[in-house]
Amino acid sequence: MKTRLVMTLILASLVALGACDRDAMMSSKGFRLPDGDAVVGREAFLYMQCHQCHTIDGEELPLIPGQETPYVELGGKVTKVKTYGELITAIINPSHELARGYAEEVVSQDGESNMYIYNDHMTVQELIDIVMFLQPHYDVVVPQGKYRVYPR
Ligand code: HEC
Repeated sequence: MKTRLVMTLILASLVALGACDRDAMMSSKGFRLPDGDAVVGREAFLYMQCHQCHTIDGEELPLIPGQETPYVELGGKVTKVKTYGELITAIINPSHELARGYAEEVVSQDGESNMYIYNDHMTVQELIDIVMFLQPHYDVVVPQGKYRVYPR
């Protein structure tokens, strides 16, 4: 009986270890793209027609004739840092996490983002430059009212 218990425990920990290993292997730790060029990134953004759906806080972008008004703003005030990893994920895996602040039915359908998938068309260099261009447009602010100020 005791051996059986020990065997079960060993098996269970092996399974747990296996899961751990997989998590560790799928980790984004160590992921780093080289620095890009924001000016080239802006050009790539326009060339890829990202401004069909996006405005960017603090940027004048031309309207695309015959298209509806862009409806998802990039950049601007955020309460949490938009990390490099999050921005890249938003571009190459848009359905992973939908942008905050929009009703789901406005930006997605059946859980899938309305954003085009560019992965077959965008070069890695374009991705690098676009992220370099976008990131400085995010402005982190401390949410109002989150921290109570006690009188002394
Ligand atoms: C057809 C419309 C459309 C086009 C074109 C488009 N997007 Fe999007 N994009 C969306 C929608 C809708 C969302 C919000 C849902 C989501 O998070 O995927 C979004 C979200 C994003 C976000 C995340 C925003 C946030 O606040 O989390 C980034 C970054 C982004 N897009 C970048 C791009 C870039 C770069 C391009 C061009 C290469 C592009 N998009 C082209 C529709 C579009």
